[in-house]
Amino acid sequence: MTRSFEKVGIVGLGTMGAGIAEVFARAGLTVVGVEADPAALERGRGHLEGSTGKAVAKGRLTEAGRAEILGRVALTTSLEDLADADLVIEAIPEVMAFKRALFTDLDRICKPSAVLATNTSSLSVTEIAAVTARPGQVVGMHFFNPAPVMRLVEVIHTVTTAKGLAEEVAALARRLGKTPVSVGDRAGFVVNRLLLTYLNHAAVLLESGLSTRDGIDAAMRLGVGLPMGPFALLDLIGLDTSYEIMCALFQETRDRRHAPAPILREMVSAGLLGRKAGCGFHDGDGPSSQAVGKPSVNSVALMGEGAEEFAAQLSAAGFKVEFGDDADVVIAMSHTPVIELAAHLPHPHRLVGLHLVGEKVAEVASTVLTSPEVARGVEGLVRIAGRTPVLCKDRAEFVVDALLYPYLNDAVRMYDSGYAGMDDIDAAMRLGCGYPAGPFEMLDTLGLETVRDGLRALYAEYRDPSFAPAPLLDKLVTAGARSIRDLS
Ligand SMILES: NC(=O)c1ccc[n+]([C@@H]2O[C@H](COP(=O)([O-])OP(=O)(O)OC[C@H]3O[C@@H](n4cnc5c(N)ncnc54)[C@H](O)[C@@H]3O)[C@@H](O)[C@H]2O)c1
Repeated sequence: MTRSFEKVGIVGLGTMGAGIAEVFARAGLTVVGVEADPAALERGRGHLEGSTGKAVAKGRLTEAGRAEILGRVALTTSLEDLADADLVIEAIPEVMAFKRALFTDLDRICKPSAVLATNTSSLSVTEIAAVTARPGQVVGMHFFNPAPVMRLVEVIHTVTTAKGLAEEVAALARRLGKTPVSVGDRAGFVVNRLLLTYLNHAAVLLESGLSTRDGIDAAMRLGVGLPMGPFALLDLIGLDTSYEIMCALFQETRDRRHAPAPILREMVSAGLLGRKAGCGFHDGDGPSSQAVGKPSVNSVALMGEGAEEFAAQLSAAGFKVEFGDDADVVIAMSHTPVIELAAHLPHPHRLVGLHLVGEKVAEVASTVLTSPEVARGVEGLVRIAGRTPVLCKDRAEFVVDALLYPYLNDAVRMYDSGYAGMDDIDAAMRLGCGYPAGPFEMLDTLGLETVRDGLRALYAEYRDPSFAPAPLLDKLVTAGARSIRDLS
């Protein structure tokens, strides 16, 4: 028999709970919103009235529609009012002790058939379910912020969740107009686990001096087409929230890749929490734009694959490329370190590596011998060619691939561990992060072998076990598979 969810309780009407209450009320369900005390209840009412009021002002909702939605939401400070709810979603602060205390109460108060759900971002749903006498009826229902706008809902089942319940909850999410993805109970689920690990990696690379904050941000935004660079996004999410999620990931996996970058801890301790504090990686003014001087480069020697394309871009922009043995700068087109070429050059300090990324970005890699003037000169040439330069060190896979490939590798490992499907992981990253494509779609576009080889190069350089290609990826390349979907 299919369960019917008509009356829904939401506990905690803060940022998330108020939005979730609105989502259910908009879909025509009866909602009971519970807050800790009368003052918090009034704040919750304010969130609901404010959000629906904005929708009316923007013409997305009529006054009558708004009144109907608000009329479906009863507000209370008594958990006892949830006795006959079919589903209760908890959205109180991210503290395990609070959640376990609340679920103990809910288990006592709610009718035996009620489903209890948590909106936790990173805590163990299994651990929360374990305090109840109904662990089979406990799931995670992870909405994204702002809940009325974001379509994604991660539906988390534990080893004790009753068979079929996650599908019923997913069907409910569809009724709300959301796109559910089904996930097992691992810290961070799909989105936070993949996203925060990548953001943390960006912070690690920044600390290693690979490139600058603005360089890395530009590389990922303009080079990969992500809506924001990693540091702008860390500022938006909040460095404290990001740090806490990384701690939860590390606590579960003990994987060095999940260890929060020390710079995050330091910035959180200093109160540099990101946008909410007015200061984080960016100081609130956004990325600084660098002044563009005329490059002091008159002659260029270009070598490697893509040299003609870059020369054509320079010529089209009016820069006359003078080639010669004694050129001011020697540009080696490459996506791998170029230092070995330096030994064969009469002026090794004139050598830089140049990697064109997509249509908009070029990574400019300086070796330990490259003179700063030469790097600046090539930076200017890149701007003339109409691309954004990303200055970096001459390290394996430079910036974009060094960040992207391990993220794709994490997605393959996630799929291979059996707790989320490929389509669900792709949908989660597209809808949860606004990425132009999911990781498996990106893998297919880039080519399995390219990514596998890039990971091998990263592993050889950094010796970090998490950069070793996932065995599944390696096997697919060995088997000659062209797409990871050849598996299914
Ligand atoms: N903010 C986000 O972007 C986001 C996104 C997804 C999930 N989450 C998760 O959602 C949950 C809530 O986060 P938030 O950002 O909405 O927090 P919040 O601090 O904005 O709201 C929490 C609310 O819970 C209330 N509360 C606390 N104890 C209570 C109790 N015992 N009974 C009733 N109400 C109680 C508080 O008064 C407050 O209004 C957390 O688990 C968080 O990890 C947050």
